[in-house]
Amino acid sequence: MAERPHDLAITIRATLSPEEHGSFDAVEAAAFGEAEWTEEQHREVTDRYSSAADANGYVLAHVGDRLVGTIRLFTRAVPFNGRMVRLGGLGGIATHPDWRGRGIAEAAVRAAMEELQQQGTEVAYLCSVPELGQRLYAKVGFAPLGRPYTYRGRSGKGYTDHDGWLAPLTDPVLCAAMLTDTEPLDLAGSNW
Ligand SMILES: CC(C)(COP(=O)(O)OP(=O)(O)OC[C@H]1O[C@@H](n2cnc3c(N)ncnc32)[C@H](O)[C@@H]1OP(=O)(O)O)[C@@H](O)C(=O)NCCC(=O)NCCS
Repeated sequence: MAERPHDLAITIRATLSPEEHGSFDAVEAAAFGEAEWTEEQHREVTDRYSSAADANGYVLAHVGDRLVGTIRLFTRAVPFNGRMVRLGGLGGIATHPDWRGRGIAEAAVRAAMEELQQQGTEVAYLCSVPELGQRLYAKVGFAPLGRPYTYRGRSGKGYTDHDGWLAPLTDPVLCAAMLTDTEPLDLAGSNW
């Protein structure tokens, strides 16, 4: 991997100004690119991942004054084994294509995990394909959920997926129990 930029700065903000939202969304759009979806597929993906408005934190990776990486942070109570778990979440993890392979996402994810832990969330959740999970997220403690999880889109429609990952934050014992359970994990809302 190329060297991490010497002037990389990671900051975490609770809110963004409208202008900052514009830059944030532009990095995310450049990173994820234009998918060749039909209108129907686009509607469904937007419904599945409709949590952006619930984000309660934003990780910003700057090189000099250029925003090059972003992550949205979430906090949500989800049911598990007869109790509610304070779940922390990472979504929209993105590095601008011009700045990839230089450790920017790894630095941003580490900062995100510290922030979620400081906020007192017990376990972290994200969704990822296996290759990226193993190369990036496993480094900061994530393990594959290994079974289905369920969630609801903004429309109320229920979905089931299999690409969940969990990591311990303030409660490693709880995280281990959630990883070894056999029932589908209920995200109690939309995915991120
Ligand atoms: C995924 C993404 C955020 C990685 O950003 P990055 O700044 O290039 O990542 P880093 O340089 O910090 O890489 C950290 C590790 O992840 C690995 N990695 C990065 N992208 C990868 C990918 N697409 N697949 C597999 N491994 C990947 C790197 O090789 C590195 O591992 P190494 O240290 O063993 O070499 C970036 O490629 C991106 O924005 N992709 C499009 C959006 C996306 O898919 N986001 C993730 C959603 S879960």
